[in-house]
Amino acid sequence: GRRAYDEPYRPQVHFSPARNWMNDPNGLLHHDGTYHLFFQYNPAGNTWGNMSWGHATSPDLVHWEERPVAIPHDEEEMVFSGSAVFDRDNTSGLGTAAAPPLVAVYTSMVKATGRQRQSLAFSTDGGETWTRYAGNPVLDIGSDNFRDPKVFWHAPTDRWVMALALSAEHRIRFYASPDLKTWTHLSDFGPAGATGGVWECPDLFELPVAGAPGRRRWVLIVNLNPGGPAGGSAGQYFTGDFDGTTFTADPQDAPRWLDHGADAYAGVTYNDAPDGRRILIAWMNNWLYGEKIPTDPWRSAMGFPRELGLRAAADDSAVLVQQPVAELATLRRRPALRIAGRRIPAGTSRLLRDAALTYEVEAELRPDGAQRCGLEVRSGGGQRTRIGYDLAGGELYVDRTASGDVGFSADFPAVHRAPLALTDGVLKLRVLVDRSSVEVFAADGAVCLTDQIFPGPDATGLATFAEEGGVRVERLTVWPLRS
Ligand code: FRU
Repeated sequence: GRRAYDEPYRPQVHFSPARNWMNDPNGLLHHDGTYHLFFQYNPAGNTWGNMSWGHATSPDLVHWEERPVAIPHDEEEMVFSGSAVFDRDNTSGLGTAAAPPLVAVYTSMVKATGRQRQSLAFSTDGGETWTRYAGNPVLDIGSDNFRDPKVFWHAPTDRWVMALALSAEHRIRFYASPDLKTWTHLSDFGPAGATGGVWECPDLFELPVAGAPGRRRWVLIVNLNPGGPAGGSAGQYFTGDFDGTTFTADPQDAPRWLDHGADAYAGVTYNDAPDGRRILIAWMNNWLYGEKIPTDPWRSAMGFPRELGLRAAADDSAVLVQQPVAELATLRRRPALRIAGRRIPAGTSRLLRDAALTYEVEAELRPDGAQRCGLEVRSGGGQRTRIGYDLAGGELYVDRTASGDVGFSADFPAVHRAPLALTDGVLKLRVLVDRSSVEVFAADGAVCLTDQIFPGPDATGLATFAEEGGVRVERLTVWPLRS
């Protein structure tokens, strides 16, 4: 029942399991009108262990129902991260032509040895119950750092393609298969980009480039832990070309981050989302302190599902842009506040004393003398979370040093920053605030910053702030969200 989801830090518009520990999203698959979300889950505790695939389903990406554990760990193995496909033509023979199976491809971590091998499980009842394939494992190279297979159907070569991580070597390895059971090594990518930690949870997909008719690029997502821009876990991406065998990256000057905050890890995308949509879900936590966050009887939520796109950049490259999925709008109540063209002097100016605990803000702020300015969410009683812009540094930032309970880990209280150019002198923000998180989408989704926060129940205010000068609020709307 909904009532149970009412604990102080319980996310209202994000998926979290009723109880126990969760990490990576797994097996993201849209099938027969349902979005499946499987996830790394400990059925028996509120820290990492006994890794199994938990399960939730949704008709619309905003309302989730938790289902029974889909693939439990057993005596021999833990069920690590992976993906799921609809085997329409029953290439695997694990279903029938009349009732083709869903097939999960996961990393089977051998408890006794730590060996990481790739294994299959299949479902012939639409994803509710799963059976391990008797011929497991299907891919074993004798490695302890070989994990997180992302499998998809590659139509041009008429076969399955798998991307997975040789984590310690900073390489993504590609394989192909006609039947999901026999896999042929195609090529390796990396080391490249950011290599400050192990490489995990890759994804590979193609997108059209908006603003460049007919142009398409492939995107390779590579999650990294530690070594992220905010410390600890983070996701990076490469754009490039995939010819069915080899991924060739476009030149890049520096690593490109999916999100500059601390709490967006293991982000991967849906197979078979309708209308060609490319939808990403990330784990809204960080291995630096993930097992210490002050929530009980569950730990971790998923980030809000994001629709991905590519936008043509001036130098002919393509930049990934992300927005909360459009379905978010179905949760909007009537605006609690609308402002147009108001100048606000230096200082902190309260906009709402008692904002809902879960809301969405769209704002266009024009620094007008201010050196730093932005929004304060969940403020009151000495607590606040700042979402600001620093003109001298040319940076968007989230300051969670005073955001409530920050003392459970020395790694938690911090200011997280992302390079950002203003758009015609204006800071364009879209912010999603839930009971224990802020997700910031700036410059129409070109820069994202996701952070958990744990504010007290009295920190309900919403304000603007401006330092060393004023700010003009060109436009600002606050929508409380229904859960
Ligand atoms: C990433 C990860 C994966 C692994 C899983 C184990 O967070 O380390 O590489 O499959 O978690 O739970």
